[in-house]
Amino acid sequence: MAKTIIISNRLPVQLQIDNGSISAIPSVGGLATGMKSVHSEGESLWIGWSGLTEEEIPEDLEDDIDAALAEHGSSKVKLTAEEVDGFYYGFSNRTIWPLFHYFLEYSEFELASWETYKAVNQKFADAILEKADKDDIIWVHDYQLMLVPRMVREKRPETSIGFFLHIPFPSFEIFRTLPWRAEVLSGLLGSDLIGFHTYDYERHFLSSIRRILGLEVSFNDIYLDDRIVKVDSFPMGIDYAKFSEAAKTHQSLPKKEQSELQRRLNKHKESTPDAKFLLSIDRLDYSKGIAKRLNAYEYFLNKYPQYKEKVRLIILAVPSRSNVPQYQLLKKEIDELVGRINGELATVSWTPIWYFYRSMPFENLIDLYTSCDIAWLTPIRDGMNLVAKEYIATRTDKTGVLILSEMAGSANEMNEALLINPNNFEQIADTIHRAIQMPPKEQKSRNDVLQKRLERYNVEKWANDFMRSLTDQRDKDPAYVTRRLSVDLTNTIMADYHAARKRLLFLDYDGTLAGFHNDPQKASPDKDLFRLLDALSALPDTHIYLISGRDKETFGRWFLKKKYNMIVEHGVWLSENGDDFTMLENVKKDWMEKIHPVLESFVDRTPGSFIEEKNYSLAWHYRNTDPDFGQKRASELNTVLRSLIANDDLSVLNGNKVVEIKSSNVNKGRAAMRIFTGDEYDFVFAIGDDWTDEFMFQELPDTAVTVKVGRQKTQAKYYLDSIKNVRDLLSRFTEKKVG
Ligand code: ADP
Ligand code: G6P
Repeated sequence: MAKTIIISNRLPVQLQIDNGSISAIPSVGGLATGMKSVHSEGESLWIGWSGLTEEEIPEDLEDDIDAALAEHGSSKVKLTAEEVDGFYYGFSNRTIWPLFHYFLEYSEFELASWETYKAVNQKFADAILEKADKDDIIWVHDYQLMLVPRMVREKRPETSIGFFLHIPFPSFEIFRTLPWRAEVLSGLLGSDLIGFHTYDYERHFLSSIRRILGLEVSFNDIYLDDRIVKVDSFPMGIDYAKFSEAAKTHQSLPKKEQSELQRRLNKHKESTPDAKFLLSIDRLDYSKGIAKRLNAYEYFLNKYPQYKEKVRLIILAVPSRSNVPQYQLLKKEIDELVGRINGELATVSWTPIWYFYRSMPFENLIDLYTSCDIAWLTPIRDGMNLVAKEYIATRTDKTGVLILSEMAGSANEMNEALLINPNNFEQIADTIHRAIQMPPKEQKSRNDVLQKRLERYNVEKWANDFMRSLTDQRDKDPAYVTRRLSVDLTNTIMADYHAARKRLLFLDYDGTLAGFHNDPQKASPDKDLFRLLDALSALPDTHIYLISGRDKETFGRWFLKKKYNMIVEHGVWLSENGDDFTMLENVKKDWMEKIHPVLESFVDRTPGSFIEEKNYSLAWHYRNTDPDFGQKRASELNTVLRSLIANDDLSVLNGNKVVEIKSSNVNKGRAAMRIFTGDEYDFVFAIGDDWTDEFMFQELPDTAVTVKVGRQKTQAKYYLDSIKNVRDLLSRFTEKKVG
C-alpha cells in the first residue's frame, strides 16, 4: 500500500542519551505537535533529525536509536555537529527565520551556511529517495527544507510532492534581499502543491514567483514548462478532541490526583477570589514579542492601578535555539525585565509575574490553559500560533478570553477573539481591562463560535484537505478536457494526415513558432524556422497558413518573398503564394482616434508599456512592466475600454501580456473558416498559444486537430508545452509516410 512520507527537520520526538540509556521527549513547536496527530492516524513514515549529532551517537547505540525512533514511526537523517551548525543554527535560524518574520536586521547572509543548507537538504532528499516506494506521496515541511522538493523531483519526476510552509512567507520587498532567492523558489517549485497558512503568505509567494522567476501565474497555478504547480492556503488546525478531552478529564480529577502546579494555582485563586490569571505561552523567540508583552503589562498596571494585587501574568517560555546569539540576548532581556518589573511592583502578597523557562509536560499545559482567565498572545509576527487555538479548545465551560495579535496567522480565523496590534500599548492596556470586565455571557458567545470552527477545521481536516488537493493535482491532466499530445496521439494524427487528400494547417506565430521578445519587432524568425516553414510549404496537397495578429508590414517584410500564405491582423489581410495583401474583411478604423489617447494615458502611467499601432487595431503591450502592476493596469484598461466601446462594433482581446482593440467582425476563427470553406479539405490542423487563437479552436469543425501551446484553459483538443515541442511536431508533417 502506498504510504505518505512526512519529512521535516524535527521529528515528533527528540532523543537524549543519558548514561547510555536513550529517552524520547516530545518536540515542541507547531509543526511537530500538529503533525503528530496526523502521523499517528494513517500509514506514514516520518523522516527527520533525531536532535542528536552524529558525534553524540556512540556506534553501539546506533541500532537502539533506530529502534527508539521506529517506535514513533520515524527514521533519522544523520547530521554532524558542523552540519547542524551551518544548516540549523546557521541558514535556517539566522537567515531564513528572521527574514521571513520581517526581522531583516537579524538576518545574516553567509555563503558557508548556504552551502551547508544545500548539502543537508540533499541529505534529506537522499533519505527520501532511499525510503520511498514508487507510489508513495512525499510531504515536505517547513523552511529548513525548501530545496528538497526539487532535489527529489530531479530523481523521481513522476512522484507526487507536497510542501507546507509553517512560517510566514514575507512580501517580495523582504524576500528579494535574500542572495539565494531564485534557488530557494526554484527548490520549492519541485513540488506539485505548495501550502501556506494564510492567503496573504500565498499572495506574497506568488508575487515573488512572478517578479523573481518571471513565471506565468494564473489564479493560484504556476505554469512551468512541463508541469503546473498549485499554490493554496490551508490554515493549520489542532487536534481539537485531544485538547478538549484532556481538559474534561483534568476537571474531573479528584483533588489528590491533581498536579503540584494545579494545586498551587488553586491555592492562589482561593486566596484572592477576584484575582485574574493572564497566560502567555510561547517558545522563547523574538518573533513572539515576549519582551514587548512584559513592557505592555507594566504599562497596563500603571494605567489601571486598580488591578495591582489582582492580576497575575504567567509566562511560560520554552527554551529554543539557544545557540543562536539573538535568542541568548532575548533570554537575558526577558530575565532582566521580569526581575525589574517584579522588583518594582511586587508587594508582600503579590508577585505580578510568574515566569517559567522550561518545557512542560502536556498535563501541566492543560493545567495552565484551564486555570487562566485570559490568554494573552502577542507575537510580532507568527505563521499561525496554535497556542491560541489550544487555549480555546480547553475551555470546556466556554468561559475565558483570548487576546491575540493580529500579526498571528491564526487571527485570520479567530475574529471573535480580542485582536490587538502588539505595538500599541494603549490598545493592549484597554483590551486587558476589557477582557477582565467581559461578562461571562459574552465570553461564552464568542468562544462558542470559535470552538465550533476549531472543532470542524481540525488538524485532521487540514491534512486531509492538503492531501486531497495534492492528489487532485497529480490527476489534473486527465481532469483537463485537453490532453497532452503523446507519442501515440501524434502517430494517429500523422496517419490521418497521410490518409487525407487535401490538408489545411493554420499556424499562429508568436508564442507558437517563435518565443516572445520584449520588443515584438525583434522576434524575427530564425534560420531553423525558415527551414521548417519551407519544408511545410513544399508539401503536396497541403496548404499552410501563418495566422497572426501581427501587422502586414512586419509579416510582409519577413515572409512575402518566401511566398508563405499569411493571414494577418487577426484576419483583416490575406496574402497567398507571395501575392500582395488583400483585405479579407472590410473594417472601419475611425474609432482609433478615440481610443489612442486612452492607451497613451496608460502608457504614461505604466512604465515599460507601449502601444503597437496596426492598420486596423491598436495593441497595448505590458510584457516589460512590473508583472503585478501590469496585470492590475490591464484589468483597469479593460474596464475603461468596455465602457468606451459599448456602442461600437469593437472587441477587446486579452492576449499574452497584451490588450488589443479591434473590430468585432475580425477574428482568427472567422478568417480560418473562410479559407476552410473555400476548398474541400479533409484534414485540418490549427495550433496557437493565446486567447486570440481560441476563435480558431472554436469555429473550425469538430474533426479539426486543434492544439494549444501551454496549459491554460482552452477549447483546443490537445496541448503541447513548449515551442520546441511545436517545432518537433510540425517537422513530423514533413517526414515521409512510414509503412
Ligand atoms: P511555534 O510553532 O512557533 O512554536 P505554535 O503556537 O504554533 O508556535 O506552537 C507551539 C506548540 O508547542 C503548541 O502546540 C504547544 O502546545 C506546544 N508547547 C508550547 N509550550 C510548550 C511547553 N512549555 N511544553 C510543551 N509544549 C509546549
Ligand atoms: C516553528 C517552526 C518549526 C519548528 C518549531 C520549533 O514552529 O515552524 O519548523 O520545528 O518552530 O523550533 P525548533 O527550532 O526547535 O525546531
